[in-house]
Amino acid sequence: MKKLYVVGNWKCNPQTLLEAKRIFGAVSKMVKERKSLETVLCPPFIFIPGLKGKKIKIGAQDCYWEGKGPFTGEISPDQLKNLGAEYVILGHSERRRWQKETDLMINMKVKAVLAAGLKAILCVEKESQLEGSLKGIGDFNNLLVAFEPVSAIGTGKPYDVNAAGKMNLTIRKKIKKDTPILYGGSVNSGNARDYIEKAGFDGFLVGGASLNPEEFVKITRILI
Ligand code: PGA
Repeated sequence: MKKLYVVGNWKCNPQTLLEAKRIFGAVSKMVKERKSLETVLCPPFIFIPGLKGKKIKIGAQDCYWEGKGPFTGEISPDQLKNLGAEYVILGHSERRRWQKETDLMINMKVKAVLAAGLKAILCVEKESQLEGSLKGIGDFNNLLVAFEPVSAIGTGKPYDVNAAGKMNLTIRKKIKKDTPILYGGSVNSGNARDYIEKAGFDGFLVGGASLNPEEFVKITRILI
């Protein structure tokens, strides 16, 4: 049975560890553990040490490409791994926009994350980003790709399911046949099913709805 993924990206939320623990605890309590479902939450770096639970894997929202050294403010893949993180989101459109991340920078990050034995969730909106970010990478074993159309991110306007399905096929042609491809962009419990059943995705990258435990868990239930 193929594995499906629901990855929650908390972005720059919440404001306190107490609230982070409340959300995480509520999801942990309600979410079902299944071999065919991987539930991942990606909090801000600072909350990672405070969030532990058997049913939920932990991811980070970014990391640096160097392992250590004079890089003020950066976090390395090994530091994340040592805290128990297993996934790292890379190339999110918000970082491309606000931190001016380029495909070359994201490519270096993907390489560093894979070299550390972590799983990379590479966000792309178009083919050129996929190619640029995966340049020189031959081993896709720990890679997941998330199709994240900017028009759908944080807008409440999910991308057209047929168009998303076409993009899914386009991405699939460029990567291995068992690399998970997720959809991200205004996913909620009402629209999620179509992206699996009609557009053929292997799961979701969920932003806003991942801060609401009931809604997030409802999305996971669609996959089991
Ligand atoms: P959204 O965000 O679900 O709030 O649209 C998705 C994302 O940024 O990954």
